[in-house]
Amino acid sequence: MDTDRSVVEAKAKKAEEKGEQGRSLIGEKAVLVPYMREHVPRYHEWMQDPALLVATGSEPLTLDQEYQMHLSWTTDPNKHTFIVLDKELIQGDFVPGNPHVEAMVGDVNIYMNDPSDPQLAEIEIMIAESQSRGKGLGEESVLLMMEFAVEFYSIQTFCVKIGESNTASLKLFRKLGFVDASYSEFFKEVTLALSMAENSPSKYFEKFRIRH
Ligand SMILES: CC(C)(COP(=O)(O)OP(=O)(O)OC[C@H]1O[C@@H](n2cnc3c(N)ncnc32)[C@H](O)[C@@H]1OP(=O)(O)O)[C@@H](O)C(=O)NCCC(=O)NCCS
Repeated sequence: MDTDRSVVEAKAKKAEEKGEQGRSLIGEKAVLVPYMREHVPRYHEWMQDPALLVATGSEPLTLDQEYQMHLSWTTDPNKHTFIVLDKELIQGDFVPGNPHVEAMVGDVNIYMNDPSDPQLAEIEIMIAESQSRGKGLGEESVLLMMEFAVEFYSIQTFCVKIGESNTASLKLFRKLGFVDASYSEFFKEVTLALSMAENSPSKYFEKFRIRH
């Protein structure tokens, strides 16, 4: 391992152990846990599926590149990612700090990628395991992530980019109040947005029964 990589890995480990990067969010059906190295092999398996690559707008990576990507997601202050656990699949009790690989079914990310607006976050959700789809995990994970992003990153506007034929994801975000903001003919992609400035966050999350 070269020095740069060991420094980054040490930072990632520290970030995982402390502060927001180490936090887990517990919902009714899902638990969001920090993306840990133990999750990478299963995550990499998911990302071999051509349908998931298209749906998430991702490129296939080698396992080594996936480990590098994991470091990027856990050390970049403009990104935050959680692995989604399906509560029904957790063996025994949920233990904070345990990756619970047996129950990992997807991920949810935010990316503060607009330097002119640090309170804007792009959100992404994936429920990769088909047996865990249609159970409300995607919706709950997005809401838990949004609530976290408002609280810890003071996010005021969320956006999401979705392929125009991805009916499930379009319906999910429209159900949560996201509205069409723009369309890319080139990428055949719709950008939807939701302004928290126009919604009182507590009323918004109450409406979707997310507990504070
Ligand atoms: C899109 C995705 C995240 C949905 O997750 P999920 O856990 O299956 O969805 P939920 O059970 O939480 O459903 C929430 C809402 O989404 C919509 N939805 C979910 N699956 C749907 C489907 N197959 N067809 C139509 N609408 C669907 C519905 O509005 C649903 O609310 P309802 O049950 O009250 O009708 C999941 O299918 C997925 O990961 N797909 C591949 C990756 C992807 O497309 N990611 C989005 C890129 S931003």
